[in-house]
Amino acid sequence: MRVAGPNPLTIERMRTLDERLPITDKQYQLVMGTQDTLKAALADGRLYLADYSAFEGAVNGSFPAGQKFNYAPLALFAVPPGRRSLVPVAIQCAPKPGADNPIFLPRDGDRWFIAKSIVQVADTNVHQAASHLGRTHLFIEPFVIATHNQFSPKHPLFLLLTPHFEGTLAINEGALDLLASRGLVDLLLASSIDQSRVFAVKAAQDYQQNLNTSMLPQTLAQRGVDDTSRLPDYPYRDDALLLWGAINQWVENYVNHYYTSDAVVQADTELQNWVTELVAHDGGRLNNIGKENRISQRTELVDLITLICFTASAQHAAVNFSQAPLMSYVPAAPPAGYSPLSTLTQEGFSENDFLKFLPPLDIAKALLDILYLLSSVYYTRLGDYGDDHFTDPIIQNHLANFQRELLKIENEINERNKTRTPYEFLLPSKIPQSINI
Ligand SMILES: [Fe+2]
Repeated sequence: MRVAGPNPLTIERMRTLDERLPITDKQYQLVMGTQDTLKAALADGRLYLADYSAFEGAVNGSFPAGQKFNYAPLALFAVPPGRRSLVPVAIQCAPKPGADNPIFLPRDGDRWFIAKSIVQVADTNVHQAASHLGRTHLFIEPFVIATHNQFSPKHPLFLLLTPHFEGTLAINEGALDLLASRGLVDLLLASSIDQSRVFAVKAAQDYQQNLNTSMLPQTLAQRGVDDTSRLPDYPYRDDALLLWGAINQWVENYVNHYYTSDAVVQADTELQNWVTELVAHDGGRLNNIGKENRISQRTELVDLITLICFTASAQHAAVNFSQAPLMSYVPAAPPAGYSPLSTLTQEGFSENDFLKFLPPLDIAKALLDILYLLSSVYYTRLGDYGDDHFTDPIIQNHLANFQRELLKIENEINERNKTRTPYEFLLPSKIPQSINI
């Protein structure tokens, strides 16, 4: 779930031990064996944290069956020496350590089970508000609007970008109903709807106002998960980087064909007006585009267009089409808890207590319905722009190369899936061009 689930975006390599999670070596070794120590694991870059403390103090929802709860756990993982995959080590169900907030280990039986479920509640809320809604659906919207406002329909960038925007404004408009007070998101997610909207907007803004550091290679590096020797088993990262590379190459070939020098970039008034609208306060309110919010080099343009195309296609596919397979069975990924933390981590926790913690059956059914719908509409396919979309033979040739590259990636991912837990959400054949569901 952390490296190949619907939200494979939270885990971070620990650069120091975290005083909020005061695990002892003795506890660590109960899980990892006496050959390993916290200090050695930290020095090797083998310790990873899933930090949900942003939910501390969040306003809980209460509609309609009763009080709902979100949680703010910290979950510690480690890669054993010489091994490839993360092992769950410890969960503390709230960020502030204390006698009433114990650290649970896998040997803790039912209490470990509920601690894992608490992590799943938090992760499900990060997934829907931040990773899915905020950082794909909302992230793309200003680009859609500025593109239609500023580029003439014959502009090469209009031709390249608009297939990656098909249906996005429509589905985002549709989402307004889901996001209404007493709408489906209010029903399902743990926080109050106002609070969930704030999480979504903050997540979107965090990327939109830091465009240059929201590129996939940079976000992986910031989270410290870019080093494949330290964390070898990370299917999302490995497949996403293949797609980022292929999209980047296609965009570079395309941009360099029409922009033969940086001077041509600077002289393109439609492009410059597009950037101006994207960063304007009464426009997209984006920030950290290019250099000082100006695109004056071809490489800056290539990076930005790659980010847009990748987010609209591959990134959305990874967080969207994983919903039905991995989140629709409510005990696996509850969208809210229905019991306060204080009652969950007591000794003697029973199956009956777990059932009371889970959403009621009608809400579980509503969840199944919506996630099935959201994961079942595959409209268009990455790289398939239509036969007549690009008429320039040089571009058609670049496109053929891009499509061949996507086929190679398809085969590569299928090969990888023979020797790892299968991860199929970034198979190019299952990635639509745009966010339309
Ligand atoms: Fe979606």
